[in-house]
Amino acid sequence: MKLRAVVLASSIFVSGAWLAEADIAMKSGSRIVITVNAHARAELLAEMRAHLVNVQKLLEALSQNDAQGVARAARASGVASATETTDELIRRLPQGFIALGLSMHQDFDRMADGAAQGDSADRLLATTAAVLQKCVACHTTYQLRVGQTDSGRRSEH
Ligand code: HEC
Repeated sequence: MKLRAVVLASSIFVSGAWLAEADIAMKSGSRIVITVNAHARAELLAEMRAHLVNVQKLLEALSQNDAQGVARAARASGVASATETTDELIRRLPQGFIALGLSMHQDFDRMADGAAQGDSADRLLATTAAVLQKCVACHTTYQLRVGQTDSGRRSEH
């Protein structure tokens, strides 16, 4: 089964979980280590770099009042862009990570819809700030390491 199907099925039940985890991680000054194989880590990091590119394009389009450009850039980070992953990787990703990732992808899709339907630049900018907060929350909470051990351990790094 692919990650996309799993995250859609589980999102309703875990939607609040990442908030609690993020809170704990910030208080202790540590992040939760997710251990995956080198291929999975490389794929996830490549997806991350694509998100940064998309956010840059989105802001540039927004500054030029280019609604179609905003919609295109937001859609590029929508649910359909999620890395397709194997059962093995899904077992290693904490539920909070999956829920937060899905929530971010859905926000980008909503932003793409809003831009296409004439949302104001102010509103789109506020939504962008809110979505970036999810990038920050996840980065504060998790880190990826290559290895064979179980994920979910906490690290002091
Ligand atoms: C569901 C969790 C999650 C979300 C949401 C998320 N990231 Fe990440 N991102 C990570 C993790 C985990 C890493 C690896 C951090 C580490 O191991 O120290 C990472 C790494 C990155 C990197 C470094 C890539 C590299 O090659 O080293 C960039 C850039 C990045 N993220 C951008 C973004 C942007 C921009 C967003 C939001 C639009 C975002 N991420 C949302 C989890 C997330």
